[in-house]
Amino acid sequence: MTQPSFTPRVFSGIKPSGGLTLGNYLGAMKRFVEMQESGEYETIYCMVDLHAITVWQDPEELRHNTREMAACFIAAGIDPAKSILFNQSQVAEHAQLGWIFNCVARMGWMGRMTQWKDKAGKNAENASLGLFGYPALMAADILVYHATHVPVGEDQKQHLELTRDIAAKFNNDFKTPFFPITEPVIEGAATRVMSLRDGSKKMSKSDASDMSRINMDDDADTIAKKIRKAKTDPEPLPDNLEGLDDRPEARNLINIYAALADTTPQTVIEEFAGKQFGTFKPALADLAVDRLSPISAEMNRMMLDIPEIDRMLAAGADRAREIATPILEKTYDIVGMVR
Ligand code: TYM
Repeated sequence: MTQPSFTPRVFSGIKPSGGLTLGNYLGAMKRFVEMQESGEYETIYCMVDLHAITVWQDPEELRHNTREMAACFIAAGIDPAKSILFNQSQVAEHAQLGWIFNCVARMGWMGRMTQWKDKAGKNAENASLGLFGYPALMAADILVYHATHVPVGEDQKQHLELTRDIAAKFNNDFKTPFFPITEPVIEGAATRVMSLRDGSKKMSKSDASDMSRINMDDDADTIAKKIRKAKTDPEPLPDNLEGLDDRPEARNLINIYAALADTTPQTVIEEFAGKQFGTFKPALADLAVDRLSPISAEMNRMMLDIPEIDRMLAAGADRAREIATPILEKTYDIVGMVR
């Protein structure tokens, strides 16, 4: 089936379940800003609150986290005049297309998702049906806008492959090249930011240890302390990247430095070749504070005016609906719903 040409359009989402980490910022949000500024795409970004409730969320905390995340998006450089920013539950078309995709996706596909296996663990019988169907709703988030590009961190790769499978099966079942086969955009030095305590684990908001991550609302002293105490090894830094092959913690800090400084790990390793962590860590802490504290200050300032955040999200949702409604209508038509 030859694909028609689709408008270059970016969609991505972040779950407002708890605060944002440096991993979310470097792996996703900073990239969202870059794609917005490239001028090559229409850009649509979303707080995926319907995804958040696949595991229990305290209602007041969910509301707070959604607004705080919106403030962080803006503070990090998302401009509501250039990008569409909103929360998922305000645009019903996500859930509506999600239902259609529940009927396209196969149980076997969902059961193979590593995030499902990790999150449901041994207690799958007790997990929510929403957690199992999570990737079908994610495909709907993307495809309800006919998005062509999706910037994400490495951990979302499998979900995006499933999005392509769902689009292809729909197109094939109904014999129409209606949905684009979306390109994942997993690029840059920080597609997988690791825990500061264990270089084999992803930095995550759900890690029990707060010292394992940098939160976007950490103050300067906390950021510096966490970097100072980050796990490392006693060796000085090597003069090439291969020298980091068996040193995951060192590799992680070099990647974080490169992403924050908008440079490559290669350049960072050349700059710090032969230096001890006693030299590198303070430089990294200064850089992190320099880049992150203006964001948290602006985020805190914005949180003083909640009605303004809510107005901005409602306006974003209106613009999102303008794109999503005709695509959903056409989908219903293809599937055979009387309208
Ligand atoms: P979520 O909320 O877990 O994470 C949001 C984004 O942050 C990236 N990320 C990381 N990147 C690098 N290093 C890390 N340690 C790290 N931790 C998180 C994630 O890869 C992601 O890009 N299922 C998605 C949300 C979603 C979505 C979508 C994304 C729902 N619908 C449609 C794209 C398109 C999720 O749980 O992300």
